[in-house]
Amino acid sequence: MTQDIELALPQGSLKLQRLPLRRKQTLQAWDSADQLALTQLQDIKPDSRILLVNDHFGALGTGLSALHKQLQLTVWSDSFLARQALQHNCQLNQLPEVKFVEAVATPQGPFDLVVMRVPKSHSLLQDQIKRLLPQLAADASLLLPIMVKHLDNSLYDLLTKLLGPLSASRAVKKARVLSAQPANASATSPAPVIKSWQYKDFTLSHYSGVYGRKRLDEGSQFLLENFPKGDFKRIIDLGCGNGILSLQAAKTWPHAQILGVDESYMAVASAKLNAEQNALAATCEFQVGNCLAGLATKSADLILCNPPFHQQRVVGDQLAMAMFADASRVLDTQGELWVVGNRHLGYHAKLKRWFKHIEQQGKHPKFVVLRCRK
Ligand SMILES: C[S@@+](CC[C@H](N)C(=O)[O-])C[C@H]1O[C@@H](n2cnc3c(N)ncnc32)[C@H](O)[C@@H]1O
Repeated sequence: MTQDIELALPQGSLKLQRLPLRRKQTLQAWDSADQLALTQLQDIKPDSRILLVNDHFGALGTGLSALHKQLQLTVWSDSFLARQALQHNCQLNQLPEVKFVEAVATPQGPFDLVVMRVPKSHSLLQDQIKRLLPQLAADASLLLPIMVKHLDNSLYDLLTKLLGPLSASRAVKKARVLSAQPANASATSPAPVIKSWQYKDFTLSHYSGVYGRKRLDEGSQFLLENFPKGDFKRIIDLGCGNGILSLQAAKTWPHAQILGVDESYMAVASAKLNAEQNALAATCEFQVGNCLAGLATKSADLILCNPPFHQQRVVGDQLAMAMFADASRVLDTQGELWVVGNRHLGYHAKLKRWFKHIEQQGKHPKFVVLRCRK
């Protein structure tokens, strides 16, 4: 089955593709919460100043910019993939590029309306709401399109604490749009929150929403305890998060060049900060990207990877598979990919598609570290 790419709305239909593009894509670029919000917004004032937060695959951004030419739309997100999806879907519908603000910066208002998809991370949600409230115009409102299954009591309590009373639309295809009219906040937006802790000799700092922000990920720790041995010069940390694997690599091989890549702006900003505060910035570089797109073939001799197991809220190994495929392209003939993952994910069998030699390192009841060579 291939995905449906036509979203029918009362105001007209949109073509929307889900990124990354795949030959047999089975997933749509929108959910019924996006669809319900776009239907509700069809009569919006044409010159509204709108802030759209955490659009998943560009459906809301494309739908809003298709509504009126005069609409002043700003998109705010932590995801490079979401940014690419928005650009792609706007082009598909012959719409101009939309203004995009990366999550570490704060978009400058005033905004008459905020449309926000609630992120999975409550720390990111709190941080974003606290920073956006001072950017609202008087009488601004906030709309939160949400799938009913994601709205549990703790999220509802947090949202009312941050925004005041909420009202909810009727449910359509298991989605609702919550709305709030938050009271005026102070004139200045707080700086993004940074949380720091110590792991061995490293001080690790994290912007909101970054993976492993509360404590070191167990899988990551297992890989650190079973770190590669050998002489490596060109090292990549794929899905670098806070950059801990890069920092350890920089300490282990002081003459190597290390590149960390992540699709989260907050993660890359955290990793850069960590390299600086641990005096390892001379050999560690970090950049935002989708897997290893744009990196030269056979340009690395070691790739370290603790892959993600979900994209937005969709659990699955599609991103891990894309990372393994990219790693095999970017690794030199003698290069090594070191992967850590939950044992039950069965990476060992899946990696055989790209790597001839796969050895398990160390022993753990829950995780495996795999050394993969072509
Ligand atoms: C399980 S975390 C690992 C983080 C860190 N390396 C560690 O070991 O603690 C996976 C990371 O992959 C990143 N990621 C997800 N999709 C990605 C993509 N398409 N390209 C690059 N990084 C991605 C996530 O933002 C997340 O930081």
